[in-house]
Amino acid sequence: MKLNNKVAFITGGTSGIGLEAAKLFQLEGAHVVLVGSNQDRLAAAGAALNGKALLIHADIRKVADIERAVAETKATYGHIDVVFANAGATTVAPLEAVTEAYVADNLALNFSGTFFTIQKAAPVMTEGGSIIVTTSFLNTIGYPGLSILAATKAATRSLVRTLGAELAPRGIRVNALSPGAIATPFYSKVGLPDAVLQEVAAGITAKTGLKRFGEAAEVAKAALFLASDDSSYTTGAELVVDGGLTQF
Ligand SMILES: NC(=O)c1ccc[n+]([C@@H]2O[C@H](COP(=O)([O-])OP(=O)(O)OC[C@H]3O[C@@H](n4cnc5c(N)ncnc54)[C@H](OP(=O)(O)O)[C@@H]3O)[C@@H](O)[C@H]2O)c1
Repeated sequence: MKLNNKVAFITGGTSGIGLEAAKLFQLEGAHVVLVGSNQDRLAAAGAALNGKALLIHADIRKVADIERAVAETKATYGHIDVVFANAGATTVAPLEAVTEAYVADNLALNFSGTFFTIQKAAPVMTEGGSIIVTTSFLNTIGYPGLSILAATKAATRSLVRTLGAELAPRGIRVNALSPGAIATPFYSKVGLPDAVLQEVAAGITAKTGLKRFGEAAEVAKAALFLASDDSSYTTGAELVVDGGLTQF
């Protein structure tokens, strides 16, 4: 019971990495709060958590939605111990296809959404609290068609250092969790036809030391480490869970 009675606020908790983390955190004794923008996925995730999670319908591109989600969590539990700022998505866009609206939307979801999740949640966090930000292998290596997502992820890696320094005096740790290629619904949403996706997957697998995609549950275990007191002396860091993709 590494998170006994802790309150864990998880954005992007309705699918993939966030949902696996939510299940694991609940098994470890946490009260789980799931934030997602799709009602059906939110309901399905709630059922997967035995009806015991607080489900909040919110679009983290909107600061007012984040404020409402934090306020609802505070009203229910009084405080937050763990923030997993994990929501994220994109579509593939090569250099010539990137538009002003595309940049704005990617920044709103993958950068501002993360920043304002931390800004709004921090005041209700307790000493000893932990904030985890999902970054990406894309902040380390270049991958065609994902320039804006990669830039937002590098920016969130930077946030972890600065906000880690700002929150350290309050005993709140801030760390990044950097997944490699993980088998989640993320890829089905990037706007590529199946045949192209298969080729991309084969290419990434070949570049990955362990020669396979990771499972969301493997990333969730790393999130548990960062969420719990097991990582009590770790802050400002990035934990890489990528089968060696960015290491060799
Ligand atoms: N899978 C990978 O290979 C990989 C690699 C590196 C980094 N990552 C990062 O890992 C994180 C989780 O991704 P995943 O792989 O688990 O993908 P996923 O299964 O597609 O999950 C994405 C989550 O983000 C939520 N989300 C998307 N837009 C949102 C919005 N506007 N407001 C609130 N929530 C929103 C989704 O919920 P709703 O759609 O219901 O809102 C969903 O719960 C992302 O930050 C992603 O960039 C993934």
